[in-house]
This record gives sequence, C-alpha cells and structure tokens, in this order.
Amino acid sequence: IAVMTSGGDAPGMNAAIRAVVRTALHYKIDVYGIRQAYAGLLNGDMHLMTSRDVSGILQKGGTILQTARNEEFKTAQGQRKGLRRLNENGIEGVIVIGGDGSLRGAMALERIGIPVVGIPASIDNDIFGTSMSIGVDTALNTILDALDRLRDTATSHNRAFLIEVMGRNCGYLALMSGILGGAEVVITPEKAPAMEDVAMQMGDAYIRGKSHAIAVIAEGAPYKINELLEFLNNKNLGFEIRLTILGHTQRGGNPTAFDRLLATRMGVNAVERLCDNEHNIMVGLNGREIVPIALEDATTKEREISADYYRMEHILSR
Ligand code: ADP
Ligand code: F6P
Repeated sequence: IAVMTSGGDAPGMNAAIRAVVRTALHYKIDVYGIRQAYAGLLNGDMHLMTSRDVSGILQKGGTILQTARNEEFKTAQGQRKGLRRLNENGIEGVIVIGGDGSLRGAMALERIGIPVVGIPASIDNDIFGTSMSIGVDTALNTILDALDRLRDTATSHNRAFLIEVMGRNCGYLALMSGILGGAEVVITPEKAPAMEDVAMQMGDAYIRGKSHAIAVIAEGAPYKINELLEFLNNKNLGFEIRLTILGHTQRGGNPTAFDRLLATRMGVNAVERLCDNEHNIMVGLNGREIVPIALEDATTKEREISADYYRMEHILSR
C-alpha cells in the first residue's frame, strides 16, 4: 500500500503517517510513502518506509512526506498517469490523509480501480462525516493562545481587537474560538452580522463598562477584516481599534493530545479496513467510535455547525 498527505498541512498528520506505517508493517504489508501528494504520485516520488522512518515524528507539526496542491491530477490524463506510477511499484491500495479536496482526489483513484481509504485532516473542520478532523484541536488551541494574549493588551489599553482566523468557507474555528476565548462578536461565513450590528455590539460593550471588545472574524466572512476596520473607525465606538490576522501560525505547532490520539486511531483503523478489503471510504469520528463514511458522502455533503453553538455564543458574549 501507499500513504500520502495532501492539501493544507495539519498538526497530527505525522502521527497519522506513523500509525499507518507501523500498522502496515505489523501486518507484514509493504508501505510506500508518496512525497508531495498527487504531484509526487505523478512524478513517481515514492519510497518504501521502515519503522525507523517514522521514529520521533509523533509530536511534530507539518508532514514529513510534505504536501502539495496539483492541478494535473484533476484531469483524466493525470489520473491515468497516477495509476501507471502505482502499478509500476505494485501498489494495491492507497491511504490519503488530507482535506475535502484531497478526498476528491482519493475518489478519483477509486474510480480508476485503486482501493482507497481517506483520513480527514484539515484545520478547517469542514469535512462531512467526522465530528473532528485531524489538526482542528491544535489549531483551536493556537488561536486561543493568541486570543488570550491579545486580550491582555486590549484590556490594558481599553482597545478593541479584530482578529481574523482561518477556515476557508467554514466558520468552525471562528465560532469555537469566539466562544472559548470570550469574544464579544463572532463573524462567520454561515452567519455574519451586518457591519452596522458589529459596530452596535462593540459600542455597547464600551458603554456597559467593558475594558476591551474582541471580534473574531472568519477569513471566509462576507466582508473582509480591513473593510470592517475602516467601517468601525468611522463610528465612534469608544475603543481604539487594532487588527490581527493570525494566518499560517494556525497551521503549525505540535499536535495536542487530542490530535495525536485521533490521528493514531484513524491511522490504525484505516489500514485495518483496507486490509479487510473495505475501501472507497473515509474514516470518521462519531461519538467515541471511528466509523466508515462513503467517500462520496464525505466529499459531496456539507458539514453543518450545530445551531446550539451559535445560541451559546449569543448568550455568553453579552
Ligand atoms: P484540501 O485537501 O486541504 O481541501 P485542496 O482542495 O487544495 O486541499 O485539494 C488538494 C489536492 O487534491 C488538489 O491540489 C488536487 O491535486 C487534488 N484534488 C482536489 N480535487 C480533486 C478532484 N476533483 N479530482 C482529482 N484530484 C483532486
Ligand atoms: O484548508 C486549510 C487552510 O489553512 C485554510 O484555512 C486556508 O484558507 C487555506 O488552507 C490556505 O491555503 P494556503 O496555505 O495555500 O495559503
């Protein structure tokens, strides 16, 4: 079999690679590491992995196999080339660790006859069929660390802060960090208050005697953080306003215990299912269980954020 990491890197990918490699070796299956995702597959950039190749990586962020985005693999010709490379090395199954785009690539491999099991890894938590993807918990903790620090300085200066977090089109990181970091306002792609309402809420926080106001805005929100800053600067909120874009700091760092455990469980489970001839699936977390989800569902259905979290945020931010 072969394993690759694809799409945006996520903390815990290394723990998943380690689990996949060691589980395969445990069952006496040769395992190739494909470097740089589908780009590496097309270049035949793959090598057999030993248990020592995955020593000392459990706790590291990023991915030792590196990752890439690749347009050629989206074409039928690219996929045929990929199949040829796999055949050249006698590879009979692939484990793809990555986000929803990467899982669409996995489905393309299935369609041309290669059994695939996907492992959801993306800080965005936008993949259907799993309550958590690998990397989300670590990213959330990184955001909270930044938010706590920003609050210290905001309070000291009586300032408002606008903080942009990642998530592509998904507001999960923004909403959860808003709730857990005690933000006054949360702006997500799914639910964005009008800028006028943001101004009202932040101005209201000032009037009620708060020493700071924090707005967390998802990068995929309908308006950009700079637009919002300009809009708010033209209102008299009481607070001076500063802006922070957390950017790629959210992608790095050592995985938390939660992410290491999730990656480890998913890695072992994915190999065991592939060995049992269970494929065309992604492994997902459902309650306390790791369960199979059809790749078709994982890549076509929308993961929704529970309305309850929005309700909670509304109650607690006042
Ligand atoms: P993520 O996996 O983090 O969502 P992307 O959406 O960028 O990241 O997808 C990663 C890679 O997966 C793409 O660069 C491409 O190589 C592959 N991929 C995405 N969609 C498809 C598709 N429909 N068919 C084949 N490969 C795809
Ligand atoms: O999917 C993970 C993610 O970090 C998104 O949150 C973000 O929109 C995107 O990747 C950034 O991609 P890049 O690393 O290519 O700038």
